[in-house]
Amino acid sequence: MSLSNCKLIDLPKITDHRGNLTFVEGGSHIPFDIARVYYLYDVPGGAERGGHAHKDLHQLIVAMSGSFDIVLDDGVNKKRFHLNRSYFGLYVGPMIWREMDNFSSGCVCMVLASNRYDESDYYRDYSDFKKAAENNKQ
Ligand code: TYD
Repeated sequence: MSLSNCKLIDLPKITDHRGNLTFVEGGSHIPFDIARVYYLYDVPGGAERGGHAHKDLHQLIVAMSGSFDIVLDDGVNKKRFHLNRSYFGLYVGPMIWREMDNFSSGCVCMVLASNRYDESDYYRDYSDFKKAAENNKQ
């Protein structure tokens, strides 16, 4: 998948003086059904996460609290996103390498994913990913 298919999705926001509410429906607000939810928290200052790509997985990444940066890379182009609102999600499709850094203290990063955890769906070596991304384009 090319980087141009990855995008920030403006999620529905119900504003209310009692507090705001955002919701996500699989297949409606995001282009996949949700099979798994996971979250990163208690991330120490200066830590980096990610450093991999997925073969088939679709994900929506949301800063539920605090902020962090994600660099997406399709093997040709790279783009840095800053996530800091719980009503914006970054859609990341298959075959996109991601690196995450600049986590603020107390940050919570939630990820909605299209499949259950499967280690065989990962590229954890950048040169393997790059080769596969090049072959996919041919
Ligand atoms: P990893 O995907 O490398 O984390 P990140 O992208 O945030 O840096 O996963 C870290 C560890 O957690 C790895 O050993 C696999 C395990 N894990 C699960 O068991 N289930 C999951 O749903 C996820 C996302 C990770």
